Amino acid sequence: MKISVIGCGFLGAVYAAGMASLGHDVVGIDIDEQKLERLKAGHSPFFEPGLDELLLEAQNRGSLRFSSDFADTASSTMHFLCVGTPQLDGSLAADVSYVDAAVRSLVPYLEASDVIVGKSTVPVGTAARLSPLVLDAGAELIWNPEFLREGHAVKDTLHPDRLIYGVRDETDAAAAIAALDEAYAPMLDEGTVRMIMNYQTAELVKNSANSFLATKISFINAMAELCDAAGADVTELAEALGLDERIGRKFLNAGLGFGGGCLPKDIRALQAQAEELGVDSAVNFLNDIDHINQSQRSRLVELTRRICGPLEGMRLVVLGAAFKPDSDDVRDSPALDVAQQLQDAGADVVVCDPHATGNAKLRFPDLAYTPELAEAVAGADALLLLTEWKQFRQLDPYQLSSQVARTVMIDGRNVLDPTKWRNAGWTFGALGRP
Ligand code: UGA
Repeated sequence: MKISVIGCGFLGAVYAAGMASLGHDVVGIDIDEQKLERLKAGHSPFFEPGLDELLLEAQNRGSLRFSSDFADTASSTMHFLCVGTPQLDGSLAADVSYVDAAVRSLVPYLEASDVIVGKSTVPVGTAARLSPLVLDAGAELIWNPEFLREGHAVKDTLHPDRLIYGVRDETDAAAAIAALDEAYAPMLDEGTVRMIMNYQTAELVKNSANSFLATKISFINAMAELCDAAGADVTELAEALGLDERIGRKFLNAGLGFGGGCLPKDIRALQAQAEELGVDSAVNFLNDIDHINQSQRSRLVELTRRICGPLEGMRLVVLGAAFKPDSDDVRDSPALDVAQQLQDAGADVVVCDPHATGNAKLRFPDLAYTPELAEAVAGADALLLLTEWKQFRQLDPYQLSSQVARTVMIDGRNVLDPTKWRNAGWTFGALGRP
């Protein structure tokens, strides 16, 4: 099948390579020439495990091209919208202008029975608003939200948990549904559940899924604060809670909380959405979820102050800059927020991250960075593990002791074994653990 993918960011670049690996003939469209140059050379413009291999394979086979010209979508019969919907400046709502612009740019090249597939996370009403424009061109619009996680994007794209098709009318859209089934045949063949629903429900599935995940994280972080006050251990609490399969263990990792380009923006967009629908009180709790999440960052700074004493002149090493491991995305990164707060309080901060220092420098140019662990830890007064990269989870307290000035470890992600570190002579601190 001939497919175009509009927008080659975190979602679109993976989608383009993923669809090509399923045997389709794909063209990826983006306006950013620099990004396109990297993609054409077979390199992902961001760090995503497995993506470079997929890009190279597809381009060597001749099944993946990139272009900045919408005219190159003309020969495709299916068009995936993968553009961003960031938070609007000065508002909680999402900015859908890139989605609107992408549809308007596609329309002149649409042919009868083409299908536009919306992947971007959008407010309710977006698909219904855009559908007439698409129908006028003889094409059909399906809203098919994407649930991939950064750091696992290749696997999540090729083996999704579920496929959600939002349609205007199941009978009228039958041909488009069949075409999308054909595009996704390998996923459907492996038994992936596919659900058909109206546009509004499909749009809400995505936003409410992210809001639920954010709620789970803030719930366990609120429990961590209770644990601190009570002398309890939140990691054991989470283990015990998670054994109840109605609750489940996933997304109950307490610590510094969530960041990135999705969860923070989506809980805010859902609040803006509810207000627009006149039911803002229904999701008022999301304001608390956001507040709990933000407060983890100041709690970590306070914990550091409690353990280290006055921060002025203290040489602190922040391990991690990315908002999560296996990603170089630093959008709303809790680690960088804390690093900046510590530096503002007078500490001498060095941030160490294996892949994200380049992006971090652009957002927080006043901080010092190194990707080299040995260079970062030399002479440190305290180490703060704020993004749980594998190499940080595997740190050996005995080996590190001789490299630092003071043996202090603050585990902002609750991934280290306190007993092991204390036995090696370290002062150990964490959120929600005695
Ligand atoms: C999230 C969703 O998980 C995806 O399903 C969705 O497709 C995506 O947003 C999106 O809307 O595009 P992502 O932002 O890549 O994916 O990252 P997550 O794995 O959800 O992690 C988000 C944040 O929560 C990270 O900062 C992570 O460190 C934090 N987190 C996660 C915790 O603090 N505790 C946990 O238990 C889990």
